[in-house]
Amino acid sequence: MQRLPIQYIEPVFRPPSEGNSLIIQVTNGCSWNKCTFCDMYTSAPKKFRVRKDAEIIGDLLKVSRAYNGVKRVFLADGDAMVLPTHRLLTILTAIKDLLPSVERVSAYCLPQNLRKKSVADLKLLKDAGLGIVYVGAESGDDLVLQRVNKSETYASTADAVLKINEAGILSSMMILNGLGGKRYSAQHAQNTARLLNECQPDFAATLVVSFPLGMGRFQDGWEGEFEELSQRELFREIEMLIDNTQLTNTIFRSDHASNYLVLKGVLGEDKERLLGEVRTAIINPEKADLREDWQRGL
Ligand SMILES: C[S@@+](CC[C@H](N)C(=O)[O-])C[C@H]1O[C@@H](n2cnc3c(N)ncnc32)[C@H](O)[C@@H]1O
Ligand code: SF4
Repeated sequence: MQRLPIQYIEPVFRPPSEGNSLIIQVTNGCSWNKCTFCDMYTSAPKKFRVRKDAEIIGDLLKVSRAYNGVKRVFLADGDAMVLPTHRLLTILTAIKDLLPSVERVSAYCLPQNLRKKSVADLKLLKDAGLGIVYVGAESGDDLVLQRVNKSETYASTADAVLKINEAGILSSMMILNGLGGKRYSAQHAQNTARLLNECQPDFAATLVVSFPLGMGRFQDGWEGEFEELSQRELFREIEMLIDNTQLTNTIFRSDHASNYLVLKGVLGEDKERLLGEVRTAIINPEKADLREDWQRGL
């Protein structure tokens, strides 16, 4: 395989659906970086920094000399939408000029990244090539969001996603299965479904909250009282979430490597089928095609 001509500051993350995209780091790390469940950008080389235009355009130039035919670009790291609109426009314009085959640019987006961006700003970004943004909603329950120090609320997330939708950019919401633990599982599921119903995103994906580096920082937010859900309780939470959705055309996926049960469909038309698959996993797990623990990851 040919080596990419650009150097990344590792580790680099991207959504599963961006697996074939060219990754361009426009920042290093995450501008917030304090969610207690997230260790993605807490390692030493990931101190938050916005890269200079010259560095980003330098990367694009190197790629343009080595390849043609790049179709998709993912702007990394954790929340590229933190850049002001004028800087994002410069980057998107450079992508168009240097990599004319690119059809879609995407980025992660923390809801607060859009606080100062109007729908008109987002429309400019859409016209310049921004096609989809991935929003880490995690939960629609304000108590859960506060306990995990997300710095967002039901309202701030809904506000951001509704702006994205209005601008005509595709919206994808990430939800964390198990984030409220045993005690808040039901309200986490119900309020997350309510948030999805209000936002009507183009895509919604669930991930199982996982702690490969330990739970210390996470437990602090719960005063040590967080109890992880069993596999069956995780499925019950997903059942409650899907059951409470009233979505018209949202592509729903639980195919991220953290999930035991892979679900794929369109909500609402596939609601009953998806509920059936979750219920099989609850009642007859041996009949469901579940991932083993060793097959799972973050
Ligand atoms: C780079 S972040 C999301 C984008 C943006 N920073 C935000 O928070 O809106 C990617 C997603 O990975 C997921 N994630 C982070 N830590 C996780 C963990 N410990 N277990 C499972 N999923 C996790 C969360 O859903 C998070 O939104
Ligand atoms: S979930 Fe998103 S906002 Fe929170 S620390 Fe991780 S990357 Fe940053």
